[in-house]
Amino acid sequence: MTDNVTACKVAKPDIATRLRRETRDAHCQIEAVMSDLLFATPLDLQAYQHMLTMHRWYYELVEARLGQFHSTAAMLQERCKLSWLDSDIRYLKKDCGQSVSDHGSYASEALELPENEAQAWGFLYVFEGATLGGGHILDRLRHQPYFKGRSGLRFFHSYGPKTPAMWREFQLSLQQFAAANPGCEKQIINGANLSFSNMYALMKGVQVD
Ligand code: HEM
Repeated sequence: MTDNVTACKVAKPDIATRLRRETRDAHCQIEAVMSDLLFATPLDLQAYQHMLTMHRWYYELVEARLGQFHSTAAMLQERCKLSWLDSDIRYLKKDCGQSVSDHGSYASEALELPENEAQAWGFLYVFEGATLGGGHILDRLRHQPYFKGRSGLRFFHSYGPKTPAMWREFQLSLQQFAAANPGCEKQIINGANLSFSNMYALMKGVQVD
């Protein structure tokens, strides 16, 4: 018993635990800025459209880079999210007529993209983890007067009821990558924090009336 307790005390936290802990502040920041955008009543549709457009632009850049590393490219095969964003952007364009086509003052050089496979896993962690918050966001958006009885919420629906299973599968693959690449944890965490800070800067730039 004592041996087990001692062993628990000295055991190193796994990569999933470290990621959650070491990106907590970054998550709080992005959650705050997204909450301001999404949970204002009534929803500012122009800002919402701008947010989706910025996401679309960023996800395309990052997914293209993730596609360049063998292991993250394999993961992306069933985890690409661009069509979800396209669907919502199309829906709003049809419904409201107006579209926000550019990505503001942001140039892709202003963003830091993953430079190696371990960092790429950190970026993927941020995109996959966002699907967990997606369910909570979806519930709130469905109560917005604009979305009552409408569709147009494909992105935040994410994997729907499959979300917990997709998350478990992602965490398992992440653990396998970390086990096969000793010493890569720091790079994974660094990648996750880079992605959070890219997204924070982009979301801060979304115009709210
Ligand atoms: C209003 C905005 C947001 C809310 C309310 C929110 C809420 C949440 C919640 C409740 C969880 C935990 C879910 C669970 O354990 O079942 C979570 C996890 C997570 N969210 Fe968010 N989130 C938001 C935005 C974002 C954004 C924009 C990103 C990234 C682009 C993000 C990335 C993550 C990640 C990576 C995790 C996994 C943490 C872990 O390792 O367990 N979230 N979020």
